[in-house]
Amino acid sequence: MVKLDKLIEGLRSISDDDFTCGNIYEFLGENPVEVDSIEPYFFWNPDFYTRNLVFKDERFELMVICWEKGMTSRIHDHAGQKCWMTVPVGRLRGQNFAVAEMDESRSFCRLVETSSFELSDCLAAKVELEEPIHQVLNLPEFNERAVSIHVYSRPFNSCLAYCRDTETYKTVPLSYYSQYGRLS
Ligand code: SIN
Repeated sequence: MVKLDKLIEGLRSISDDDFTCGNIYEFLGENPVEVDSIEPYFFWNPDFYTRNLVFKDERFELMVICWEKGMTSRIHDHAGQKCWMTVPVGRLRGQNFAVAEMDESRSFCRLVETSSFELSDCLAAKVELEEPIHQVLNLPEFNERAVSIHVYSRPFNSCLAYCRDTETYKTVPLSYYSQYGRLS
């Protein structure tokens, strides 16, 4: 087990050429994080999951995300960026989607569910660049809070969010609930 600052130090020491989907995925899998070391970044909100920035440079940002029971992200993409996650507390489901039909002129998009995966116990996952649309869910039946660590490269502040009811999508801004351990 490693402390969060050691994980960040390790990520920073990886060269640009080696900062690939596969390498970072392996690195996260090989370096499970000590829960004590992420506790300063636990911020909870009863209405939405919280995005808590821990580290950011030009190449990547690392966030701790806190999910109350039953909370889900919107269905979203990652604006062409690479993204990895690991779940040191609780359990999360990742659901991937593929575009079945799209018409940019009217922001129309019909999605179909594809693969899904479950993460807990510091297991790591990566967003597949070929199929980047997904949703993260802390399902009610998991019946516990969850905390995940996310690495995004490069840092981004907006993405596309999809609504399955209206079969539309739009660009949405992304923000932090806390930064470096303090509420934003
Ligand atoms: C988020 O970044 O807001 C949600 C987590 C994810 O799906 O990457």
